[in-house]
Amino acid sequence: MLIYLTWVGHKRQIEKPSDLLLFTLRNQLGLTGAKPGCENGDCGACTVLVDGWPIKSCVMLTVEAIGKKITTIEGLKNAPIQKAFVEEIPFQCGYCTSGFLMVCHGLSEIHPDADESVIEEWLQSNICRCTSYQEIGKAIKSVLRGS
Ligand code: FES
Ligand code: FES
Repeated sequence: MLIYLTWVGHKRQIEKPSDLLLFTLRNQLGLTGAKPGCENGDCGACTVLVDGWPIKSCVMLTVEAIGKKITTIEGLKNAPIQKAFVEEIPFQCGYCTSGFLMVCHGLSEIHPDADESVIEEWLQSNICRCTSYQEIGKAIKSVLRGS
């Protein structure tokens, strides 16, 4: 089976399409940016973009990724949200960071004019145990047109 990864720009061969996407990315493709956390869809540490939308890769089968564009944090090259995260330092331990970065990147691409309520709704998908929410909010607002 082949899945398309935007960061490499071409298709990659997958041996076990029945695996969860999170573990295919990490164990078969060596893309360890998406993190295992709760592994039941609650925490968002495993978030990647599927055709541009944030998806929790611990609850998606790899076979469901056929024909879709998967963007992992390794594929973000000079995205504005990366610079914003460097400037706001919205993390302490950093375990949640790649997941939040992917959500924020997806939000900035899909809703570049998002207002406060849309931002709040989107950020509810992920959990930061170190409670860096205020700084994450500042980082995403700094890259949105309407904020
Ligand atoms: S590890 Fe996927 S949502 Fe927590
Ligand atoms: S920075 Fe530690 S969980 Fe978010």
